[in-house]
This record gives sequence, C-alpha cells and structure tokens, in this order.
Amino acid sequence: MSGQSDFGMVGLGTMGRSLLLNIADHGFAVAGLDTDAVKAEALRTEGAKRGAQGFTDPKEFVGALRKPRAVMILVPAGAPVDSVIGSLGPLLEPGDLLIDGGNSFFKDTNRRGADLIARGIGFIGLGVSGGESGARHGPSMTGGGEVADYERVRGLLEAVAAKANGEPCVALLGPGSAGHYVKMVHNGIEYGIMQLISEVYDLMKRGLRMSNSEIGDVFGEWNTGDLESFLIEITADVLRYPDENGGSLVDAISDKAKQKGTGKWSSQDAMDLGIPIPTIDLAVNARELSALKDERVRASKALTGPEPGTPHSADVCDLAEGALILAILSTYSQGFSQLAAASDEYGYGLNLERVASVWRAGCIIRARSLESIRQAFATDPELPNLMLSPAVAGVFDRRQSQLRAVLREMIGRGLPAPALSASLAYLDGYRSATLPTNLIQAQRDLFGAHTYERIDKEGSFHTKWQSE
Ligand code: 6PG
Repeated sequence: MSGQSDFGMVGLGTMGRSLLLNIADHGFAVAGLDTDAVKAEALRTEGAKRGAQGFTDPKEFVGALRKPRAVMILVPAGAPVDSVIGSLGPLLEPGDLLIDGGNSFFKDTNRRGADLIARGIGFIGLGVSGGESGARHGPSMTGGGEVADYERVRGLLEAVAAKANGEPCVALLGPGSAGHYVKMVHNGIEYGIMQLISEVYDLMKRGLRMSNSEIGDVFGEWNTGDLESFLIEITADVLRYPDENGGSLVDAISDKAKQKGTGKWSSQDAMDLGIPIPTIDLAVNARELSALKDERVRASKALTGPEPGTPHSADVCDLAEGALILAILSTYSQGFSQLAAASDEYGYGLNLERVASVWRAGCIIRARSLESIRQAFATDPELPNLMLSPAVAGVFDRRQSQLRAVLREMIGRGLPAPALSASLAYLDGYRSATLPTNLIQAQRDLFGAHTYERIDKEGSFHTKWQSE
C-alpha cells in the first residue's frame, strides 16, 4: 500500500528537521525518520499544523510515502550515509529516488550513485548550504545527478530554495557528484573568507588595539558597501555580542578552530587536479596551526617578534576594507578555477554562471559581489580565470595597493596574515608572464637529469652542469 506523504527525510537533526518543516510550509505532505524518538516526536509537534509525520521505524516511514518515493538523507557525512542507505535501500523499489543532502565527499557520492542506479533507484547528491536558518527559510542547493530524477523534485526544491532577484537558488549542475563537488568548493571558499576576516580582525584588535564593539561597527559599516555579505554581517554581530561574565563573548571563546573536513577535501582535490588555490590551502593550514595551542603557548615564551600594537589608525582601517575586497575576490577566483578544472576532469559540464547565480542567496558565501561574478561568466562563459574578466581586473587594479599596504603593516607588526598574503601572491603569480621557475627546472636537471625545455627551440634537453 502506498502512503500519502510527498517527501521523506531521514535524519531529523537541526538541518533535516528545519528543511523538512520548510518543505511542509510550502504545502507538501512530509514524513521524517530518526532513530531518536525525541527527534521524531519533535517533528510531529512542530509540524502538527501541517500534518508532518515522525517515525523511528524505517518500514513505517517508507510505508507512509507516496510511490514512487522521494527521500532525502540529511545525516553526518561518511559512514552514517552508508548506514542509512544500507538499512533503507532494501525497503525502496525501482523508480524511487534518494537524495543525499549532506556534505558528502564527492567520490562517495559517485560510488553510492552507481550502486543505487544499478538497482533502479534514482540518486541525487545535493549540496545544501545556509545552516539552520537557511534550511528553515531558504537554502542554496547544488544538485548532481540525472535530469529525469531531478525533474521529479525540481518544483519542490525551487519552492523551498532561497531566491535571488526572484530566481530560486537551486540547480542541477551536472551528473553524478557535480552538486557535492560544487558544495565542497563552496566550503573551501567559506574557509578562505573566514580566515581572511579573522586576519583583518587580528590587525584591528592586536594591531590597532580597537575594542570588539569598535571592530564590530567597522564590519557593520563595511557590510553596507562592496563587502556586503553574510560572513561580514555575522562578524559584526559576533563582535558586538556580550558575554555573561562581562566583556565580549568572542574573547571567552577558545582559539582552537575545528573543522569537519570539507575545506581540506577542497585543497586535497585541487592538489590532485594541479590547480592552485593558495588562500583556501592556507585557511585550512591556519586552523591546523590554531589547534596546536600548547605548542603555541610554549613558543610565545621562547620566540620573539615585534610588538604588534599601536593605537587605532583610521587610515589602516580604510586600507583593510580594500585589502579584504581584493583578497575575497582572489579567493572566489581560485574556487571558480578549481571548478573549471574539475568540470573538465570529472565531466561535470559545469556552467559557472549558474554556480555563481545559485550562490547569490541562501548560502554561507552569499555576497553582493556574486552578482558581478555571475555577470563575468555570463559575458564570457569560457573565462579561464575570473581575474581575466575586465570588470574583475579593474577591482584588482584599484585595490592592490591597499592590500600591499595592509600586508606591510601586518608583517612589520609580526601579525600572521597567511591568507591575505596568499591572495596577493596568487594575483602576483598569475599576472607574471615569466616566473623564476626556470631556475627550478635547471636545478632538477642538474641533480636528477630530469631534463628541461628551452624557450627558443622545441625539444627536451639535458646538460652536464658540473665537471666530474
Ligand atoms: C553551509 C556550511 C556547512 C558546514 C559548516 C561547518 O554551507 O551551510 O558550509 O555545510 O557545516 O561550514 O564546516 P566546518 O565544521 O568544517 O567548519
């Protein structure tokens, strides 16, 4: 017997419950499954007005769904996804559709999709961004899979997605793991921007000795200009938040940054593709360094450096705004270049204008600048790098002196600025028609006879550089 629910959700944690309630709000009959009876009950209570059903038993849950069934899994990435597919798979029938809405590693998505499709079950890997509030009120979603499978849920996904200029921020971006790959790079960019913001916060706090509320006001002001974005907005909110013991809550928070892996995957796969994404690499690196708290405390007594603090200077603050604009744009450029390379390598056929369009609202990296980025790819879909777009190049031209000045300040004061430096080095490297890597080629040939190519004639050359 077929049930009446239009859509099922497995995993009623923060994200699953919020997204399912959002779907119910749009007039769809929903059912949820969680092994935790408290969560199943919470869904029944919260979704009572909409008739949401909560289950702890997979058979009852599957029985409540209208055939052919559409079920989303929203559980932590990795083994939990396989475990859900293992227990639910046998209860599903050919023609049913499974959607993995978690932050799954793209190679896992390829494997799971191949297994399910072989059994006649459709599979979509869907990146869902926007945290709890996004899931509840409008996330940004990036899909990968077959067109026919996506068409079955397109109306539902478009109804619940965030809207940018009235357009839903959800799309099927390519086959297989395309959607999860794009979400992984989204998170890599997210890591990069968060690290850049924290470096500028460090300059203002330890360098210019500004109070948290003063820094919060600066970020609030920046959020009305070119930097307008979700991450700048929440930075202002965080910095102004008081602690129960007095002072600011941010000062009471441990500086060991945690990570669940998506930023690292982005870096690892960029390395495999041979594509530089230095700001993202160094953002992952900075979280790793932050975790070495005991060593850092020891080193702070053993190693010396300049005194970072001098009183507040409005000039340096103004420079920091331009520096951040450039560095964030550099990070987007790196992320999009990774997507272009991955699209070729994995056959995703990504439309980068579409990616920028879906990221304009609902997701963590949403920003005013994504509309200009979208336009850059609309004007030239084959753009090999965003920095080659005349409009974007203009921003790099105007802002680079500000980033250089900020870096001089930070390096002079002994304040670490790995992501800001990497963002500038990416620009400086990319705009260099000649690089010093000819020397590396010569060294490789000297010690390993690895050969080199010449600039004046074709072929592969080896020199006997030293006499015996
Ligand atoms: C989003 C976020 C989200 C992720 C956080 C935490 O798009 O809504 O990217 O998917 O959970 O970014 O990631 P880390 O724990 O690795 O910082």
